[in-house]
Amino acid sequence: MIYSRIAGTGGYLPDKVVTNADLEKTVDTTDQWIQDRTGIRERHIAAEDQTTCDLAEQAARKAMESANVTSEDIDLVIIATTTPDRVFPSTACLLQQRLDIHGCAAFDVQAVCTGFVYALGIADKFIKSGTHKCALVVGAETLSRIVDWKDRTTCVLFGDGAGAAVVRAADEPGIMSTHLHADGKYENLLTVPAGVSQGYDQILQQSAFIEMKGNEVFKMAVNTLGRIVDETLEANQLQKSDIDWLIPHQANTRIIGATARKLKMPMDHVVVTVAEHGNTSAASIPLALDVAIRDGRIKRGEILMLEGFGGGFTWGSVLLKY
Ligand code: UT7
Repeated sequence: MIYSRIAGTGGYLPDKVVTNADLEKTVDTTDQWIQDRTGIRERHIAAEDQTTCDLAEQAARKAMESANVTSEDIDLVIIATTTPDRVFPSTACLLQQRLDIHGCAAFDVQAVCTGFVYALGIADKFIKSGTHKCALVVGAETLSRIVDWKDRTTCVLFGDGAGAAVVRAADEPGIMSTHLHADGKYENLLTVPAGVSQGYDQILQQSAFIEMKGNEVFKMAVNTLGRIVDETLEANQLQKSDIDWLIPHQANTRIIGATARKLKMPMDHVVVTVAEHGNTSAASIPLALDVAIRDGRIKRGEILMLEGFGGGFTWGSVLLKY
């Protein structure tokens, strides 16, 4: 039996930091409201000339270095993103050539905030099938481009960044199970209601920004993430106490806290980066994972639960032995 395991991780955040105090000057909000309702203190924002691929490249190079692999070793490139550089080629193809990787499969995955979980699930299946041995899996976003900076209900929430993992074939797990779900009937609760197929005029003249019914998304996220915890434990015949670390999607500390309570997981075993990163969509889980690996909290052999929820709705989890 072939398994896949995370061989190395990397993360990248743009230099520019926008604090809650900065936002108080541009929209009718307060640092207190943002911290109380979301836990966010600041977020990183890409420079004007920085694209999603630029962020992805930095994170990917760090992941490859930590996994001790070269461009020649990579035989699959997957980027999860909602904010691609171009309509086409895919951001994965752009990244591939930046890294001097040639010929292997490269494609983008669009599952919004669950994107990295989807991409990891796909990489795991490619590797388990025996066709591929070494995948570069990236979550990268320049969400600041699709945020309406005049809308206080959304602009305080999001940030830019990229996280990456190198996933290699192994004799034992590694990734123990992946659980991917979606239900498009919730398409309008969290959306950017524009796209190239509706015509460029619409993008140019109307809203091409994130719209969210925050309260309804909040309730769905808490309930759905509770269910995916049960599903993941049951599939692996594990108890809550078997999980060493929860690495959740970073949207809101109140949602993260609810999932941690469901797992009976003390908060010092939950990786929380939302205060410094904001919600970076597909980048949030790999960024959080990389932070906790690099600062020494997560150690080899420990059991990690990654879980995400986002537009679509999409949701999913990955259980793995690091
Ligand atoms: O990553 C994908 C998944 N996304 C999420 O998981 C996000 C889920 N949703 C949330 O995290 C929360 O719903 C929010 C943080 C977005 C909002 O928190 P909330 O506790 O649900 O607040 P609310 O939307 O019910 O708004 C409460 C009040 C409203 O005023 P009224 O109607 O009570 O007078 C809002 O207009 O807060 C007001 N408000 C603000 N006030 C100050 C909304 N945004 C702001 C703001 N500053 N930035």
